[in-house]
Amino acid sequence: MRLNGKTVLVTGGAVRIGKAICEALAAEGCNVVIHCSRSVSAAEQLALKLRAKGVKAWVVKEAIDSELDCRSLMSSAFRLAGNLDILVNNAAVFHKNRLKTVSEQKLRVEFGINLFAPILLTRLFAERAVKGAVVNLLDRRIEANDPDCLPYSLSKKSLAAFTQEAALALAPDISVNAVAPGAVLPPPGKGAQYFSDRAGTIPLKCRITPQDVAQGVVALLKLDAVTGQILFMDGGQHLLGNGV
Ligand SMILES: NC(=O)c1ccc[n+]([C@@H]2O[C@H](COP(=O)([O-])OP(=O)(O)OC[C@H]3O[C@@H](n4cnc5c(N)ncnc54)[C@H](OP(=O)(O)O)[C@@H]3O)[C@@H](O)[C@H]2O)c1
Repeated sequence: MRLNGKTVLVTGGAVRIGKAICEALAAEGCNVVIHCSRSVSAAEQLALKLRAKGVKAWVVKEAIDSELDCRSLMSSAFRLAGNLDILVNNAAVFHKNRLKTVSEQKLRVEFGINLFAPILLTRLFAERAVKGAVVNLLDRRIEANDPDCLPYSLSKKSLAAFTQEAALALAPDISVNAVAPGAVLPPPGKGAQYFSDRAGTIPLKCRITPQDVAQGVVALLKLDAVTGQILFMDGGQHLLGNGV
């Protein structure tokens, strides 16, 4: 897809990896709908920055906890921007939950935001976008088993499966691909030491940045012959499975 002049909705786009994705797509000439929930002022600041670079940018504040929320987000995005060509399902939650402490509520939170919302948003996007592309954010853990964060890990494995199901369901008009990052940023509130203690072995011995992940999204969007593809952005860590 030629990105210049296209319009994209990035969920959770105000901060961290989502922000880098918004910036990278704006640098390619995309107009950007920045979805946020709590990070409203960060989203407004990012919108100002993107507009100063010559693209259009809008902010939509919405939870994505229910189908109603997802409908409201998608309607606002289409109303503000007029049209959408690309959906990036980036918003997520990450909690440490082992099987022994898991509960229905904890499962509902992780699956609700990390799996149900991307599925529903993809459906709502596909109902209105004539042609386009969806990119889902996964995790290199889809190639491993991580008992420390069971609901998160399962939600991302399911989203990987959905990426391939949706790629077939929405062809030939809409491509559906995914980027699976390794350790990029510590969870909000955790420091660099927490992060380096847990990053594990990275075969390429590289530090993966939010900008690397964003370039993965851009690359997938530019490849017209690709759908149902999962691009690991993890320095090769997924090749080790659980051996990290
Ligand atoms: N960080 C990493 O190292 C890493 C590694 C592997 C995979 N990933 C994946 O890459 C993506 C981005 O990672 P990240 O660490 O930048 O994400 P993050 O900071 O954990 O979350 C991104 C945004 O999701 C939004 N969000 C969460 N719950 C929401 C809800 N109920 N309703 C609406 N929005 C909600 C929040 O927006 P507001 O701030 O506006 O509330 C949040 O800023 C995620 O899909 C993540 O799973 C990240």
